[in-house]
Amino acid sequence: MQVVPIDIGHVGEAADVLAQVMHDDPVGSFLIPDPIERLDHGRRHYRWLIERALDEGRVDALGNPVVAVAVWLRRPALEGPAPARSHTTVAASPPLPPEALERLDRLAEVMRLLRRASRPDEHVYLDTLGTLPGWRRQGLATRLLAAGHAWADRLKLPRALDTETDENVGFYRRRGYRVIASANVPGSELRITAMRYIGQTGEGRLPDGLCHSAAGRWSRGQHPRRGP
Ligand SMILES: CC(C)(COP(=O)(O)OP(=O)(O)OC[C@H]1O[C@@H](n2cnc3c(N)ncnc32)[C@H](O)[C@@H]1OP(=O)(O)O)[C@@H](O)C(=O)NCCC(=O)NCCS
Repeated sequence: MQVVPIDIGHVGEAADVLAQVMHDDPVGSFLIPDPIERLDHGRRHYRWLIERALDEGRVDALGNPVVAVAVWLRRPALEGPAPARSHTTVAASPPLPPEALERLDRLAEVMRLLRRASRPDEHVYLDTLGTLPGWRRQGLATRLLAAGHAWADRLKLPRALDTETDENVGFYRRRGYRVIASANVPGSELRITAMRYIGQTGEGRLPDGLCHSAAGRWSRGQHPRRGP
């Protein structure tokens, strides 16, 4: 099985895989508690995300049919010119149910704070990584990560991500990422941890003013806390 970049013909298939894989994801469950509505919205959301990433990032998959997918976005520095776009028109994201909009506002505010605290510079962002349950623990996600890292190396850009569970923080730590900041979404149990890749030997330098938490501790506060 080889890592292949997704083409437009496989967008729907890859989106269905991610909607299944991410069905119990804490962010999705926070935004849309109803599981049937969440699966339905997930299919539309991941189709939109993959189309966006084909325009401004990279989407890799493993398997035919697809069993594992990674979606990477290339993100500009917060201060600086907007990046040039291709001519592809990417539609607006699929609307959430009206009752989810207030929760989305709370989440979006935390994401803005975390971005400022942990990745204000131009970077490659791992938006979503998932392997179907029957295919886990065979090294597939690790191979998808390696393909994304090779792409980031070619672009000479740092890599960053957010994640929401202790298990996933551990998964990424073992693959060279470090916790930079974390924050709870107010009025919820949801906590988001921002991580950046520094490599197993620390070769991925952090920009001035950022440092990682040696203990990888979590902040339970409302505002993101940087590592010491
Ligand atoms: C997190 C996730 C992507 C990992 O996918 P995966 O394909 O199972 O990942 P890997 O197989 O590369 O690694 C998983 C574990 O299996 C182990 N493993 C790899 N090959 C193995 C093999 N042949 N036999 C046994 N174990 C193996 C790895 O060592 C790793 O454990 P470690 O982290 O302790 O080293 C997957 O569990 C998932 O999709 N979860 C739900 C979605 C999610 O949370 N995504 C991440 C946030 S966006």
